[in-house]
Amino acid sequence: MRVLRFAVVALMALGCATACEERPKTQESETTQGTGAATGAIAASGETGPADANTILIGEVGSLTGPEATFGVSTRNGIDLAIQQENAAGGVKGKKLKVRVYDDQSKPEEAANAVTRLISQDRVAVILGEVASSNSLAMAPKAQAAQTPMITPSSTNEKVTQVGDYIFRVCFIDAFQGYAMAKFAHDTLKVKTAAILKDQKSDYSLGLTKVFNTKFTEFGGKIVTIEAYSKGDTDFRAQLTAIKSAKPEALYIPGYYTDIGVIARQARELGIKTILLGGDGWESPTLTELGGSALDGSYYTNHYSPEDPSPHVQQFIAEYRKVYGAVPDSLAALGYDAARVAVDAMRRAKDLTGPSIRDAIAQTKAFPGVAGTISIDENRNAVKPAVVLKVEDGKTKFVTTVSP
Ligand code: PHE
Repeated sequence: MRVLRFAVVALMALGCATACEERPKTQESETTQGTGAATGAIAASGETGPADANTILIGEVGSLTGPEATFGVSTRNGIDLAIQQENAAGGVKGKKLKVRVYDDQSKPEEAANAVTRLISQDRVAVILGEVASSNSLAMAPKAQAAQTPMITPSSTNEKVTQVGDYIFRVCFIDAFQGYAMAKFAHDTLKVKTAAILKDQKSDYSLGLTKVFNTKFTEFGGKIVTIEAYSKGDTDFRAQLTAIKSAKPEALYIPGYYTDIGVIARQARELGIKTILLGGDGWESPTLTELGGSALDGSYYTNHYSPEDPSPHVQQFIAEYRKVYGAVPDSLAALGYDAARVAVDAMRRAKDLTGPSIRDAIAQTKAFPGVAGTISIDENRNAVKPAVVLKVEDGKTKFVTTVSP
């Protein structure tokens, strides 16, 4: 957790001068987080209500605490960096930008509460979030009903943007991500048999399982077994034992980093030597701390690699490092991109009402994101390449790019 804490401390040291709200010292602790279903989530800053006439309020919902905490913290860092830069560049329509962020504690119910607050009490112009698809799916119907545009930086499940015409994403979808890993496993790793271990409580995991199963089979591979766990489980030995006896050459685990670390260790303890494969949910500065050498030789699909030599990507990495003291992960990159797409749309919009901002977001074309170029298609998704990363000695290395 060292990296996470460092990022939070660095952010607080930054003072949120122009971008985000002043956060109380206890901001990091559980006590300021969502207060439960009865009263709903509270803003991390403790502030409530609309902004003054010279300020545009942007809402953000993220997992600042809980099992997906690095998703929320990295995303927030990326968003805050973008908004500071946009304010330094003059803001939007003569106004300054400010972000109001709510912690949903990695829970869909809290994400839904937070979005209700952002809409009815804070009256935000646009909502950024969530990362986990199940949380975005809990938020999207509320944003849609209120005609408040929502951009998820990183939720990849197809259903998220299908909720309605106010819901957008700046990342690829799982139909592509699952295909990319199935193709890489079959064509590059020459794997003929695979097992899948899915999180049956996660829309993300279920979606990727379906795509990988279909595509890997289409390519001529064989899925030998599909086992299931539920978010919050800590003992995966029964499922792993079943997988071991099915003798797959690869094991696809479309889950989130906290579970992946434990699963990888337990798999190796049981003598499973097979190659482990995953999706973007593996992406976290703590993945290799949690999984240790059990993850060496694994591969996962992702949105971006810090090894991308493009000058604008390297410039983003340098600026992020200067502020947060860490290399941005893909969540930070996508948070940065989502915030910049929102601001770009607000600049082009004829006014700052929900319908006008929505129309401007829908017209986003060839926007130079740091996690790939963003053109919003007719389904409000971005079509972009995926990268495959390999875990080696506690680090991730760029392997290849898979194009749609
Ligand atoms: N794509 C994941 C989901 O939809 C979230 C995620 C994105 C996690 C990028 C890590 C990195 O649930």
